[in-house]
Amino acid sequence: MFNLILFGPPGSGKGTQSEKLVDKYGLVHLSTGNLLREEIANKTPLGTEAKNFMDKGQLVPDEVVIGMIDNSLDQHKDAMGFLFDGFPRTAAQAEALDKLLELKKTGIAIVLALEVTEEELVKRLLNRGKTSGRSDDTNEAVIRKRFTVYTNDTEPVAGHYKKEKKFQSIKGEGSVEDIFNAICTVVDKKMK
Ligand code: AP5
Ligand code: MG
Repeated sequence: MFNLILFGPPGSGKGTQSEKLVDKYGLVHLSTGNLLREEIANKTPLGTEAKNFMDKGQLVPDEVVIGMIDNSLDQHKDAMGFLFDGFPRTAAQAEALDKLLELKKTGIAIVLALEVTEEELVKRLLNRGKTSGRSDDTNEAVIRKRFTVYTNDTEPVAGHYKKEKKFQSIKGEGSVEDIFNAICTVVDKKMK
């Protein structure tokens, strides 16, 4: 199994690059943001609870997203590997993921972090907000809140993987294709 985490702030291109990576490497894409938006669209109790947090740019409680990942891993027992997008976002989530993967006798191969300046991120998200229908993209205050949460709660998770020498930064600005090629170079080397 080859398991990869795409790390980076809101708007850094995790979703965009994930689509191309799962196509190329046959991994299962697990985006907690997408899974939560599906729950909201289906009007489930979990979705209703999550929406309150997401609309404010806050994180959904750890136990909710960890439970979702646990279910998704079980639903794909024959997967060649997983691409985690937007997860883990807290130290507790990173520890839970380690345990879940250990139970499956596997682990994280590499964490790739997309680096993009805040001004570029705001531009991208406001632009996406015009068409995405994502309520957390249309209000600049909510976008800024997501960055604060990222800095306080999520960025420290990098340390967890740096300790294990699994963390690598990638320049997330430039053409989608160039960034994809830079990611593939690292992944190919790691897969050998
Ligand atoms: P989530 O859905 O994960 O959103 P996010 O992390 O805020 O990131 P985005 O999806 O906005 O950005 P992205 O990095 O995927 O970039 P994208 O490729 O779309 O989370 C949403 C909310 O759900 C959270 O706030 C939280 O409430 C909750 N949540 C989710 N996971 C959670 C967890 N684990 N724990 C707790 N709560 C959780 O690109 C952005 C835009 O830029 C697009 O328009 C794209 O076309 C454009 N773009 C991409 N690449 C480029 C490029 N190279 N040049 C120019 N434009 C580009
Ligand atoms: Mg995304």
